Order: sequence, then structure tokens, then C-alpha cells
Amino acid sequence: MITLGIETSCDETAIAILKDGRIILSDLMSSQIDLHKKYGGVVPELACRRHIETIGPLLAEGLQSAGVSLNQIDRIAVTVGPGLVGALLVGVSFAKALAYALGIPLVPVHHLEGHIEAAFIEHREIRFPLVALVVSGGHTNLYYMSGHGQYRPLGRTIDDAAGEALDKGARMLGFGYPGGPVIDRLAKKGDPNRMPFTRPYQSKTHCDFSFSGLKTALKRCLEKFESLENPSDLADIAAGYQNAIVESLIEKTFLAIKKEKVKYLIVCGGVAANSLLRKRIEEEAASREISAFIPSVQFCTDNGAMIAMAGSSASSWDKNALLDLNPDPNLDLPKFHTI
Ligand code: KG4
Ligand code: ZN
Repeated sequence: MITLGIETSCDETAIAILKDGRIILSDLMSSQIDLHKKYGGVVPELACRRHIETIGPLLAEGLQSAGVSLNQIDRIAVTVGPGLVGALLVGVSFAKALAYALGIPLVPVHHLEGHIEAAFIEHREIRFPLVALVVSGGHTNLYYMSGHGQYRPLGRTIDDAAGEALDKGARMLGFGYPGGPVIDRLAKKGDPNRMPFTRPYQSKTHCDFSFSGLKTALKRCLEKFESLENPSDLADIAAGYQNAIVESLIEKTFLAIKKEKVKYLIVCGGVAANSLLRKRIEEEAASREISAFIPSVQFCTDNGAMIAMAGSSASSWDKNALLDLNPDPNLDLPKFHTI
């Protein structure tokens, strides 16, 4: 069974070819970071155009590096949402045309389910029930999962996503998009206790997050400095800011685990590439005897392998979209599986 995965929900065009839901034959990603950098964020119109230019050649390259021909593909999995509607439309239209021409099934995939299923690429030993934290540029969501495709929402951000808070914070510190990796790098050299930020939205009763207040706190903190020329000031601020975000994620994730009495945890999405978050999840999971699974960094940020994996997972076996399939920029995850 050869699955082609296609991902174009934001600013990365990604293609992967997966064999038997386990073996990655090729996994290619074309990033648009250089295109959007000068605007400080993703410009939807530019993203769509670049996806159109890139997707065909990227597929040709993917097939060649996998040593697979087009008519060996058995099914096509494509991200249908959530994301930028124009960007999604490029991937969905391309996948529909290809599935029609080849006469093979077309499997719609929810982007967040792709992030979660990425954990199964490297870890067959994950068991249900589990708690999944999806933490990316657009989402910060906690789910209880009783099986593949079975989700009960436990918590979510009420304002900015964690990745968005990192991106905006980095911008305020004078860095470009995406800011998460910059803060990660800077914070490694900083002291998080010199300028601590209050952990947002602390409550033992719910598992929601809030990160927008941190931006104001960062603004206030920056007002105290005439300039940020001293690299150690910058590093200490980044470390304090990152620490508040990471500890908030840790607190609510382990509160959810305690409430739901589960023993397995998946942490995924672009922010799961963060080195402090990875370390803290491992420490807290070990001390509570929880088995925590975080995909390798390459499978945390948007990629095609996660979409191919979700398209070949048990929750997608019976999915076969028709040619009237349309992207949905606000697609809800639990609802996606009840349609
Ligand atoms: O999952 P993703 O690639 O795209 C979305 O679905 O949003 O996540 C992108 C987010 C961005 O906010 C980016 O700054 C963040 O992931 N990110 C990181 C790191 N690498 C990417 N955040 C913190 N530390 C990192 N190392
Ligand atoms: Zn993503």
C-alpha cells in the first residue's frame, strides 16, 4: 500500500510517499520562509502562488527519490483544513486531479490529526487512551483520545496559540518570522529567572490556555531597556518569556493527564520542536511514570509524512472523498470524524 501525502495548509509545500503506513520512501518539503520573512508573517496570496509553482516539481522529485512511479500510488491523502483557504485549495485541487486521473481513493486529512499521527511514524508502541497536546503556530489544543480518530476536547487557547506568542515575541525583540526557533536558540544562553514572566492563566479547574497577556508583559519589560544591544539582556528576556509559555503548557497538559487518569501522552506540532518543551515534558513524564511521545523535530513542523501517515491510519481507512471535496479553513477536529 503506497500512500502519497500532500500538505499545503500554510507556508510549506510538502509531499511524502509512505509504504504500508510505516516506511517513508520520500519526504520533501519546500519552505516559503524567505518569501514571507520581510512581511513578518505569512502573506496568503503569495503563499498560494508559490504552492502552485512548487507542487508539481516537488511531486516529480518525490517520486524519483522514492523510486516509485505515479501508477504505483494506491491512495492520496491531502490536508483539507484548517489553514489558509487559498493555500489549502492548491493542495486539494492538485490531489483531486491526480486521484481522478489515476482512478484511486482520495483521503481528506485534518491538519491537526496529521500532527498527532506523526507520533506513530516512529512509535508503534503508543497505546490508547491518551492525552494529545497539539501546539503549533495556529493551535494549542488538548484532546483525550480513546483510539485513532476519536477525540474529546479537553482544553484550548482562548486567544493566541503558543507558536503565535513565540512568533510575536520574537518580532518584538527584533527578529523575523518564524520566531519560535529564534527564541529557542536565544533562550539557551539566557537566565529565565532574571526577568521572570508570570505564567498565564493558572487554574487547577480547567485545561485552557491564554498567551496574549504575555505580549503586554513583554512590552512592559522592553520599556525598561534603552537598547537591546547587550546580547545577555536579549537572551535573558527570551529565556523568561519562553519559560512562561513552556511552563503553562506543562501545567495544563499534566493537569489533563491527572484528570483523565491516562498513562500515555503525545506532544506534537511545530512548537513541540522546542528544546525546553521537549526536555520539560520528558522530565515531568518520567517523574509521573507517564509514557510521553514527541515526534522527531522534522516531523513536528509541517510535513508531508504526517499527512500520509494520517491517511493510512485506521481512522481514515473508510474515507474516500468525492471530486466535490472542498477545503475548510476552520475545520473542527472531533466534528471531522462525525461527518
Ligand atoms: O506546526 P507548524 O509547522 O505550523 C502550524 O501548523 O502552525 O508550527 C509552526 C510554529 C511557528 O509558530 C514556529 O515559530 C513554531 O512552530 N516553532 C517553534 C520551533 N520550531 C518551530 N517554536 C518553538 N521552538 C522551536 N524550535
Ligand atoms: Zn501544522
